[in-house]
Amino acid sequence: MDDTPSPLFPAWQDSDTRQWGHAELKLAHRWHEHPLFSREALAGLIERYPAEHYALVRTSLQGEAARQWREGDIGDFNGQEVIEAIAQGRMWLNLRNVHLVDARYARLLDAAYAELAERVPGFEPSALRMGILISSPGIHVHYHADLPGQALWQVAGRKRVYLYPARPPFLPPAALEDIALTGVEVKMPYDPAFDQQARVFELAPGAMLHWPLNAPHRVENHDCLNVSVTTEHWTPGIRRSQMVTMANGILRRHLKLHPSGRELQGPGFWMKAALQAAWRRSPWSRRVQRLQRPIDFRLDRTAAGLMRDIPPFYR
Ligand SMILES: [Fe+2]
Repeated sequence: MDDTPSPLFPAWQDSDTRQWGHAELKLAHRWHEHPLFSREALAGLIERYPAEHYALVRTSLQGEAARQWREGDIGDFNGQEVIEAIAQGRMWLNLRNVHLVDARYARLLDAAYAELAERVPGFEPSALRMGILISSPGIHVHYHADLPGQALWQVAGRKRVYLYPARPPFLPPAALEDIALTGVEVKMPYDPAFDQQARVFELAPGAMLHWPLNAPHRVENHDCLNVSVTTEHWTPGIRRSQMVTMANGILRRHLKLHPSGRELQGPGFWMKAALQAAWRRSPWSRRVQRLQRPIDFRLDRTAAGLMRDIPPFYR
């Protein structure tokens, strides 16, 4: 079952090797043909999934005034029923940490990055993570940026991904620093005029997208159920970049300075590496709490829209 299709990237070009990590890159992959991503396998995975590792999120309907973000519980729905409820609703199920929950997916992930490391000289990925995102027709993932290296692999359904340059005004340094310092995805300022500089990609099953570190992005599902895989990686260079981002955030937020440099080596880098290490050990860093939302609905066969409000609780 864990036989990895090889090669995973059947149409890899030499130009892909040069562009990996440096430019927006759309690649053909073969995970969508793998039995572990069939609907039956995903339904089974949902039924075994530890509650602390998933998030079921209900988003606002198109045209609804208030932005809504509520978290829910899958209740006693079986896996197929959960997928069907998502296909009919306005929500997404994020199976976080699939690599920790099921070793077969961890082996697929390791094999994929081993193939990438072989294809891209000097690419040294580590701390790999995998999530599976099952999402409703038509929903959007709002404009944001992520800290680790990222790729999005389409397995079922179709979506449109907008990628923006990883520089101001698309990515204000202070916004990235806040994400690094708090671990909370801040609401990044988005201007529809940014779209003129966006690169827009259509993702169908068998397409994978990788983009330069921290590049802001947003996603629109087409009118169909979507199954996508998200993978994350770190490299020595990404770790250094993260240290500089944190140090610049400490200088800006706590010392009221205006840091500008982003050198990844030399004395300036090592001073920032020391600064962020000291801050991580300090009580200041522990004051920042991760944002946690209560779970306040449950999937329910007898409720309108298959969702019933429940007294809020925290996992
Ligand atoms: Fe993202």
